[in-house]
Amino acid sequence: MEQFEQIDEQRSWSLAQRQAGKRISFVPTMGALHAGHASLIERAKSEGDVVVVSIFVNPTQFDNPDDLEAYPKQMERDWEVCQSLGVDAVFVPTKEAMFPNGYCTFVEVVGPLQESLCAVSRPGHFRGVCTVVQKLFNIVQPDCAIFGQKDLQQVLIIQRMVSDLSSPVEIIVAPTIREDDGLALSSRNQRLDDESRANAVSVPRGLELANQAFKAGERNSNKLMTAFANEVLMYENVDLDYADVVDLDGFVECEEANDHCILAVAVFFNGVRLIDHIHLGGPSLPVAIED
Ligand code: PAF
Repeated sequence: MEQFEQIDEQRSWSLAQRQAGKRISFVPTMGALHAGHASLIERAKSEGDVVVVSIFVNPTQFDNPDDLEAYPKQMERDWEVCQSLGVDAVFVPTKEAMFPNGYCTFVEVVGPLQESLCAVSRPGHFRGVCTVVQKLFNIVQPDCAIFGQKDLQQVLIIQRMVSDLSSPVEIIVAPTIREDDGLALSSRNQRLDDESRANAVSVPRGLELANQAFKAGERNSNKLMTAFANEVLMYENVDLDYADVVDLDGFVECEEANDHCILAVAVFFNGVRLIDHIHLGGPSLPVAIED
């Protein structure tokens, strides 16, 4: 497995692969790799001839310096994970290489995708994501890139960016991977203390309760959001960032839910922010619901 820190090295390698007629699949990450990333890498292997994984904790997408500081870092382990999964090249640029002094160009998708959920609660977050992803695309020059469905707003924004900028990269969305108790995998999960980890299962459980209420005929978004909120807020040290019903048709918040809607949520467990969502009327989540 190759490892590149310099932009030129990664670009030359990618160019050689393309000249050899190889299709490059790309998995951008911020490291702290887990089984969710492994599933993205496996998908990348099935979509291309060679796989590149980038590991870069992108400072421009953190609105909170403490959150950036606390983001888990485990480079050696990540390298082993990539090696064991048969990744062909790992791109690990430095912050100075990506955002040198004087850097002042940003990519921003505007419009409805930027007017709800994480775009509102983390101002500037998606501007940072789009900037780094487009920059990584320019360096790695992939044919396709794989993103997890858990970060649905992120992947919709990236699809919009790629389409609007005519970037020649196919965006592939891979399903959310969950723990046995239903908690969506996230690098942030390892920051949960034992109590918060136990309480965090209330996120998929609350989503599933709202989904069951929707399936039973409830269409009032406030009531669906309350079904979720009641489930998570029964615990201590829990703060609800948002719980919103959003219509995927136009990505607007709506008072009356329909079967194009998701219930998307962000919850702090003792300061650790987790996000998740469910398609209302869609498949049930693997959670135990007590009567
Ligand atoms: O989803 C992530 O891990 C990050 O937002 C990404 C896409 C790697 C950009 O830094």
